[in-house]
Amino acid sequence: MSSFPGDRQVVIAPAKINLTLRVLGKRSDGYHELDSVVCKVDWQDTIVVAGGAAAKIELRCTRPDIPTDGRNLLWKVTQRLGQRKSPSEAIVIELHKEIPVGAGLGGGSSDAAALLLLLNQRWQLGLTVAERQAEAAAVGSDVPLFLVPGTVRIGGRGERVEPFRLAFRGVLLLVKPTFAISTAAVYAAWSSPGEAIPTPPLENMKQCTSAAALNGLLFNDLETSIYQVEPRLRALKHQLEELTGQRFHVTGSGSTLFTCCEDPSAAGPLVQRVRALPVEQVRVARILDP
Ligand code: C5P
Repeated sequence: MSSFPGDRQVVIAPAKINLTLRVLGKRSDGYHELDSVVCKVDWQDTIVVAGGAAAKIELRCTRPDIPTDGRNLLWKVTQRLGQRKSPSEAIVIELHKEIPVGAGLGGGSSDAAALLLLLNQRWQLGLTVAERQAEAAAVGSDVPLFLVPGTVRIGGRGERVEPFRLAFRGVLLLVKPTFAISTAAVYAAWSSPGEAIPTPPLENMKQCTSAAALNGLLFNDLETSIYQVEPRLRALKHQLEELTGQRFHVTGSGSTLFTCCEDPSAAGPLVQRVRALPVEQVRVARILDP
């Protein structure tokens, strides 16, 4: 697919997993106030950028079902940052898509963050950390969390990001079902925090090195709304838990399910069992920490 001259630049964009996700309430702007611990994993898209000839922004994607116009976050980032560049540069962006969409893995947001950092350098925009965070938040709620490497704790709508060091050195077993789930539909189905469930002390989570203990600490307040939108996911989660004897969790607004394992050799036999189910992808992923 690539037919670029010498000035090409390549960046990778990792997927994310929400290890915890607390929804604190609905805000007056329609978004939801969050408190979530999010890690990045080694399942990634690749973005190739080079100078273009004709069109100002040309976006290509290896997956034909992904829009390559103004609906794509890569387009939005290029357009926003392009307004700060004078004279402007015509560029071609190739997106080699590996991360499934509608899967709670943040692929589109990660792509946007990676391109934002690349264009800031390429065009010598000199954006400060605060300006980068603001540009990212303007593109999407999940984009800022990808500007800070490694595991982070996010707050607000997603614009507040702080590093969160995990002691856990195991792996995650990820299961992507055959269906996608709409984030907007899940948040629309969320009604209230219900009974105030106390947040388990996140300090315990930081220090936790055992996969079983970590599986006992993780939670996602969107689960009830997710199962309302997509009852098949609840059924799949139960199946996975019966089949493996492990607790499974939903990342973000779904549809990917995951469980923590001590190491790849502990995850291996589970992968074999899960592959017997009609799911789209099963993958053992490493947590990326700087
Ligand atoms: O910001 P973004 O466009 O990525 O968000 C997608 C949708 O997810 C929003 O339209 C909104 O319905 C929901 N959302 C939310 N609260 C957040 C993040 C996302 O309600 N903190």
